Amino acid sequence: MADTQKTAQLTIGDQSYDLPIHSPTEGPDVIDIRKLYGQAGVFTYDPGFTSTAACDSTITYIDGDAGVLLHRGYPIDQLAGKSHYLEVCFLLLYGYLPTAAELETFENTITRHTMIHEQMHNFFRGFRRDAHPMATMVGVVGAMSAFYHDSTDISDERQREIASHRLIAKMPTIAAMAYKYSIGQPFVYPRNDLDYAANFLHMCFAVPAEEYVVDPILARAMDRIFTLHADHEQNASTSTVRLASSSGANPFACIAAGIACLWGPAHGGANQACLEMLKEIGSVDRIPEYIARAKDKNDPFRLMGFGHRVYKNFDPRATVMKQSADEVLDLLGVENNPVLAVAKELERAALEDPYFAEKKLFPNVDFYSGIILEAMGFPTSMFTPIFALSRTVGWISQWKEQLADPQMKIGRPRQLYMGETARDYVDIENR
Ligand code: CMC
Repeated sequence: MADTQKTAQLTIGDQSYDLPIHSPTEGPDVIDIRKLYGQAGVFTYDPGFTSTAACDSTITYIDGDAGVLLHRGYPIDQLAGKSHYLEVCFLLLYGYLPTAAELETFENTITRHTMIHEQMHNFFRGFRRDAHPMATMVGVVGAMSAFYHDSTDISDERQREIASHRLIAKMPTIAAMAYKYSIGQPFVYPRNDLDYAANFLHMCFAVPAEEYVVDPILARAMDRIFTLHADHEQNASTSTVRLASSSGANPFACIAAGIACLWGPAHGGANQACLEMLKEIGSVDRIPEYIARAKDKNDPFRLMGFGHRVYKNFDPRATVMKQSADEVLDLLGVENNPVLAVAKELERAALEDPYFAEKKLFPNVDFYSGIILEAMGFPTSMFTPIFALSRTVGWISQWKEQLADPQMKIGRPRQLYMGETARDYVDIENR
C-alpha cells in the first residue's frame, strides 16, 4: 500500500480524528479507517460496499465512468483482440505477459491437468439429471478438496500453484461433464491436441458415435467469451472467494463458494435470466410492455442484462462481445432468429428511453454473451457455468494475491445493530 502524507479529518462532537489517505496508481484516493473504532469507538456503514475498499490489489482496474477495464494495466479490448484466454490467465496469475517459452510451458501444464480423477465421475452420477449444472459444479468443485489432498496446504507456495493450475485446467471438463450428464449423453474426455476453447466445445458437443470438428470461428468466439469474463476486480463472487479464503479454507472450497455466489441472477446468473427474459418477451411488439414494467417502481421486474454497479457509461466488455455476437451470428446464419430480433429491438428501445439514459443503464456483457451462447447451441442453463469456468482464473489470482498479502486478516464486517436491547428470558408458560 502506497504511503501518503495526506489525511482526512473526521469530527465527532468536539473530537477530531486524522485518518490517513492512500493514493492508488489509478482511481480515487482511499481513506484508511482501520484504526477508527479503536480511536473513536465508531463503525462506518456501507451496505453493499458501495464506497469501501476491502483490500489492495494489483490485478484489475476498472474506471466505471470512463468504461475502462485493465488487467495488469492492459486494456480489455487489446487483450480480447490480440491475446487469448490462456495468455490472459498467465497475465492475471503472474502479473506480466509471458515470453513464448513461458507461455508454451504454461499451456502444456494446463493441458496436462485437464482430466479429473476417474472416481469423480461417480459424483456426477449422484445428481439428478435435471439438476442445474451450477448446482453440480458447486458440489463437484467443492469435492475436489477430497480428491487433491496434495494441493490443499495453503501455506505451501508450490501447492498453491498446483491448485491454481488444476482449477483452471479442470473447470472446463467439470462444466462440460455437468452438461453431458444433464442431457443423458456420455462424458467426453478432454483432448490435449485441441486448444483450451476448442477442447471445451469438443467436450460439450462431441458424441462417441461420430466425429465432431470444432469450427475455428466458434472456438475463437468461445475463447473471447472466456477472456472477457476472466476477472473483474472485487465483484460479489470474487469478494466471496476472498472472504472464504480469509479463514484459511482450502482453494477448492473457496472457488466452490465463488461459484455459489456467481449463480445469482444479479451477478453471473444474469446471462441465463436475460435469455429467458428475451424468450418470455417473445415478439418485438411486446417490448413496450416490458420496458414499462422495468420502469414501474411497484413492479420488481428488471431488464436483465442491463445496468451495472460500476460501469455507468458503457461496459467495455459488452462492446467487444457485441462484435463477437455479430461474427458468430453471421457464421451460423441465424439473423432471422426471433430471440435475436427481440434482443436488437430491446437494446434500441431501451437506449432511446430517457429512464435508462438518466439511470445510466445500458446493455452489459451478459446481454450479448447469452445471445452468442444460444446461437452456438448451448442451453440457457449452461450460460452461468461458462461464466464460472471463465472467472475461475480471476478468483484464483485474487486468492493467491490475498494469501501473499502480509496485511491479510480474517474478513469480519461490523454491523449496525437495530434489534432488541438486552432483556430477560421469559419461561414458556408465561409468554
Ligand atoms: N432494469 C430496470 N431498472 C434498473 C435496472 C434494470 N436492469 N438496473 C438498475 N435499475 C434501476 C433501479 O431500479 C434503481 O432505480 P432507483 O434509483 O429509482 O431506485 C437504479 O437503477 C439503480 O439500481 P441499483 O439496483 O441501486 O444499482 P446496483 O448498482 O445496486 O445494481 C445491478 C447493479 C447489475 C445488480 C442492476 O443493474 C441489475 O439488477 N441489473 C440486472 C441484472 C444484470 O444484468 N446483472 C449482470 C451484471 S454484469 C455481469 C456481472 O458482473 O455479473
